[in-house]
Amino acid sequence: MEERSDVKEIDRRHKEALVRAEASVAQVSAQAARDPLRLHYHLMAPAYWVNDPCGLVEFRGEYHLFYQFNPYAPVWGHMHWGHARSRDLIHWEHLPIALAPSEPYDIHPRGGIFTGCAMADGEELKVIYCGSTGEGSDLRQVQCLAVSRDGIHFTKDADNPVIAGPPPEGSANFRDPNIWKHDGHWYMVLGTCRDGKGKAVLYRSEDMKHWEYKSVLAESDGTLGTMWECPDFFPLEDKYVLLFSPMGLGAVKGIYLVGDLDYETGRFTWQTRGEMDYGCEYYAPQTFEDSQGRRIMFGWLNSWEWMPWFQDFGPTVQQNWCGAISLPRMLSLDQTGHLRFTPVREAESLREEHFHWEPAVLHPGERLIAHKAGGVSLEIALTCDLQRTTAGEFGLILRGNETTGRQTVLRYITKTGELVFDRSRADGCSAQGSRCSCPADALGRISFRVYVDSSCVEVYGNEGQVCMTNRIYPDAGCTQTEVYVKDGSADIVSLDVWTLKSIWQADAGDCDPQEG
Ligand code: FRU
Repeated sequence: MEERSDVKEIDRRHKEALVRAEASVAQVSAQAARDPLRLHYHLMAPAYWVNDPCGLVEFRGEYHLFYQFNPYAPVWGHMHWGHARSRDLIHWEHLPIALAPSEPYDIHPRGGIFTGCAMADGEELKVIYCGSTGEGSDLRQVQCLAVSRDGIHFTKDADNPVIAGPPPEGSANFRDPNIWKHDGHWYMVLGTCRDGKGKAVLYRSEDMKHWEYKSVLAESDGTLGTMWECPDFFPLEDKYVLLFSPMGLGAVKGIYLVGDLDYETGRFTWQTRGEMDYGCEYYAPQTFEDSQGRRIMFGWLNSWEWMPWFQDFGPTVQQNWCGAISLPRMLSLDQTGHLRFTPVREAESLREEHFHWEPAVLHPGERLIAHKAGGVSLEIALTCDLQRTTAGEFGLILRGNETTGRQTVLRYITKTGELVFDRSRADGCSAQGSRCSCPADALGRISFRVYVDSSCVEVYGNEGQVCMTNRIYPDAGCTQTEVYVKDGSADIVSLDVWTLKSIWQADAGDCDPQEG
């Protein structure tokens, strides 16, 4: 079939924009790769700015992850879709940039190709993204389709945008499409807002190109945020789950609602609510279902609002990179109807050396040196029996240096059952940390699984009942890891530490898809 001439023109412009972007990244990727704050086993771009993961999909047996990417500077703007591929969700190979702004509906210095989703449709991989142009009262956000046959090169649809504007219940803030298939129809949720209330709106299509507006799927009651970014809606066990990243709620960065969907009315009613992650740096997560039926979530290891807009995202900006993607978390429902987040089992392939401690009682003043040096890339699993613990507080010192006094402390306050991430002495630049409630389990125990990766710490409390993700920027000399106790003794049931391998080749920013 002959290609339409406008398709050829669109493709030509798009390819030119992609070549320009790749050349820009190539200029600084060697410098970025040398930064000691680079992560060892989290996905990063070769250089420059990363925010939301998007377009998560399994296509022809391989996992694809796209991400919001500015290939021109280590700050937000000119959004593209960077692209990586993996066979095991842990080891990543960088692919060419997938989408670049090139059309009137998606080209803007403070806009571009915003977050969206990807779906395998027969032999094709289709993505729907938000084209964002203008700002302030000129903001225009539309939804666009692009298609790939090989999962690498994408062609923008000649009839874009496929949704040219918001429904009456929405506003110009109308973005982050997320789709799924049910009973032979395609459904899409989008984030929007009106009158200071965030909401998710629902569309339906037969071909992913023509979309019919259905309803407001769910909206804030005034307490759930002024705008809902990155809504993600999916079935889990016998329920539906809506995730979104609310604006205007300060420290609350990610909310989930668990409930039921009425496909007739297009209305979601929820019974249970929770937060995705209690850290300062976890935002805009997206999920997908893989061929093993697992619901897997990735998030952006940074967030808006903690720091003044566009001003300070930490010192890596000086090395021409900023932002990364979390470890993959598998979602399930617990007996109370709340979500549980657990690292996928493939993360165990990162383990190298293993250190194991027999049960022990740790007394005041004593410290258990869990790892003397090299505590930069670790997995730590600690379980304590709270019924036999008298300490007011115990926890982990991470990335410590006794000479300089630098340290990051993960505290468990036994009286209140609170988990505190204290980074006030971590690096001289990180401001407030984070805290959340993490009560003992049914056996009266508390457990933590902690992933330390250079400038990132992901904490999973009580088998993923709570997650807490924060960034820290210590210098290379901060390598000590310890268990400490204060005001009483702590009954340690088990302590395991693994050093974790890097997924990157040492000499380049390029990825090495190692055998998993
Ligand atoms: C969330 C977000 C999305 C938007 C994208 C732009 O972090 O603001 O709503 O699509 O980032 O980069």
